[in-house]
Order: sequence, then C-alpha cells, then structure tokens
Amino acid sequence: MGKTTTAINLATALATTKRVLLLDMDPQGNASTGLGVPRNARGAGTYALLVGDRPLSDLIRPSKIPGLDLLPADNDLAGAEIEMVGMEDRERRLAGALARDGTTLARYDYLLIDCPPSLGLLTLNALVAAQSVLVPLQTEFFALEGISQIARTVERVKRLNPELALDGIVLTMFDRRNNLSELVARDVRSFFKDRVYDTVIPRNIRVSEAPSHGLPVLLYDVRSSGAQAYIKLAAELLKRDRARARAAKAGVA
Ligand SMILES: Nc1ncnc2c1ncn2[C@@H]1O[C@H](COP(=O)(O)OP(=O)(O)O)[C@@H](O)[C@H]1O
Ligand SMILES: [Mg+2]
Repeated sequence: MGKTTTAINLATALATTKRVLLLDMDPQGNASTGLGVPRNARGAGTYALLVGDRPLSDLIRPSKIPGLDLLPADNDLAGAEIEMVGMEDRERRLAGALARDGTTLARYDYLLIDCPPSLGLLTLNALVAAQSVLVPLQTEFFALEGISQIARTVERVKRLNPELALDGIVLTMFDRRNNLSELVARDVRSFFKDRVYDTVIPRNIRVSEAPSHGLPVLLYDVRSSGAQAYIKLAAELLKRDRARARAAKAGVA
C-alpha cells in the first residue's frame, strides 16, 4: 500500500529539479488518474507499448507538472498479462521497448514505474527493466512479512536482471498516535538498516484527497504534512544517489 501515492508524489517532487518519466503499469491506472488523466481520456499507453509494439516516443505525454511526463495505463492493460503469456520474450517486453528508444529515454533523469499489487507479468516486466526497487511499506503489523517476500522476489528476478537492487524502503502511512507504527518502524529499521529511508511519510488526509482532484498532494496542498514529507523524500533520494555515484567513482579510481 502506498505505491501509487509514492510514485505520483515522488515523481512530482523530483520533477522540480530533474526530468522525470512515470510509467503506469497498473491496469487500475491510479497513477494516471492521480495525475489528471481520467479513464475516458487515456488513449494509448503501456499496453500499446508492451503488446502493440508502439514506440515509447509516440505514447508519452506531458503532465500538467513541468518536468514530469507520463506513460498512462490504457484501458486494455488488464488484458496484457494474458496476451503476453504466449510471447517468447514475455518478461522482457518493457526492457526491450525501452532499449529500442534510447534517444527518448535519454531525455529523462529518472524513470519511475508504478506496479500493480500482484507479482504477475506486468510487475515482472517492470523488475526486469528497472535498475532498482523502491518499496513503500505501510507501518502495520504484517509489514515485515511483506517486505521479506519482496526481498526474496528481487533476489529471484536477479537471474533475469543482475543489475536489480532493492534500493530502498519507505515507511508510509505512519501514524504517530499509534504505538504499532513506531514498533513496526523500529523492526523494519533494525532488519533492513540503512536501506530504510530516514524520511517517513505520515498518514495524512490531504494525501488521500488529492487523487480525486487529479492532482499530486504537492499541488493540492503543498503545506500539508504529506506534501512536505514527499519533498523530503525526493531530497533524500537525490542525496543517496549522489553518495552512490561518488562511491562508484572512488571504486573505479
Ligand atoms: N500517507 C498517506 N496518508 C493517507 N492516505 C494515504 C497515504 N498514502 C496512501 N494513502 C491512501 O491509501 C490508499 C492506497 O494507496 P495507494 O498509493 O493507491 O496504494 P497502492 O498503489 O500500493 O495500492 C489510497 O486511497 C491512498 O489515497
Ligand atoms: Mg497502485
């Protein structure tokens, strides 16, 4: 829980200084709706890319946020899992489509993929195409169980995509009044150490209201605790990336 909300708002916050593309891989299309592209205005998107072999550059559209483009989920995306089953390169449809359009990809600093909840072919395509996985984790009782399952999945997908890393866990829907939130956060941190982001996303009503207005919470109410947390999260992600780039350089030298 919290995947789509994090995809939308992290993408929006990153877009203030970076060029960002958000891919909506969930047939529900909540990331598309939340960015102001309702179901009846979707047109061609992820399905056309994965199944229809349409080039990425044809399908991307600008969002109302400067610096943020969107590949929406088209209404046919729900059928993609079944239609891809018979294809030989079924796990690599997305990776292949991205590799074929390197010039378009080069226009972006960050590509964010919003995944569906299940580990089907759509999610697998995202994991095979991605460099890293960011897991939003709701601070509730079963959180640790869910996250160890995701960690195992990442390990398994490494056979198809050796580059894939579980880069971060973001605690979300944190409720300060609930002791359980605090306990779960402590557990997750002691297990996953610095892979857990310092920034915590609070449970905040403005966050849940924003999508029905077709807006990221950063535009809906920038002063809300939710919007401020996503701004901090983006800054922390950029800082971690810079540190990683420095470490990689030092490793080469
Ligand atoms: N920090 C938050 N505070 C309050 N509500 C939230 C928060 N994050 C997500 N929600 C709400 O919880 C529900 C599920 O979130 P969503 O991001 O769509 O999860 P997922 O994509 O993982 O299914 C949505 O209704 C969303 O508005
Ligand atoms: Mg979602």
